Amino acid sequence: MAVTTRQLIEWKQKGRPIVALTAWDYAIAQILDTAGVDLILVGDTMAVVLGYETTLPITLEEMLHHAKAVRRAVKRALMVVDLPFLTYQESQEQAINSAGRVLKETGAQAVKLEGGYPAMVETVARLVQAGIPVMGHVGLTPQSIHHTGLRQQGKTEEAGERILQEAIALEQAGAFCIVLEHIPPELALHITQKLSIPTIGIGAGPHCDGQVLVTSDVLALSEKQPPFAKVYTNLRETITKAVQDYSTEVRERKFPE
Ligand code: KIV
Repeated sequence: MAVTTRQLIEWKQKGRPIVALTAWDYAIAQILDTAGVDLILVGDTMAVVLGYETTLPITLEEMLHHAKAVRRAVKRALMVVDLPFLTYQESQEQAINSAGRVLKETGAQAVKLEGGYPAMVETVARLVQAGIPVMGHVGLTPQSIHHTGLRQQGKTEEAGERILQEAIALEQAGAFCIVLEHIPPELALHITQKLSIPTIGIGAGPHCDGQVLVTSDVLALSEKQPPFAKVYTNLRETITKAVQDYSTEVRERKFPE
């Protein structure tokens, strides 16, 4: 049965951890979905596999293009698509328009957007009123890289309290789930205990209701990974070896036999 936003909340209540990963194309999405991943995020970290240095250049058209491919593969997981930089910050109308396009054109069930400051909380409330499920994202928000860098957030008591209040405000605005990125584990635990909706951590320790990683980090497809990522298999090495073997066999006229 397909995973729903309501089910994620029930899983939090039951203490059943939520497994999330990112996907950017049909092949990867099909593997993740068949392997039983609960939530597949077409994240704007897709920037990495498109060769961008940050997530900022990604356009809505690029997200739509890749999300459609992911949709064709995903049968069970809940599919969420990131709204890219400056496709929702300008006004609530802009956010409705961008999020509406994502739901209508890709068939995703929800969008994710970054930030918990008051204007963004109002935007989330407006999207939810319009029937668009929203996943929040606080802590390190990579679309603000020029303000914060990629440093851990919420290290002081004051900064931690601000992130907690943002998460509470997003829940009150109707978000169904919140990503907590690169914050201290104790802060993530505190936020997780305060919220009724699930927290999905990345670089936020073991106490969140679920975990998400960027699939190109898990598979070591990207040249370098953030310190909190874990490489489960090194496809960069595996692919390099396969390509070298193939090249050798072609040059030595061993393939085709
Ligand atoms: O874009 C992305 O992949 C994300 C994850 C880091 C949660 O937002």
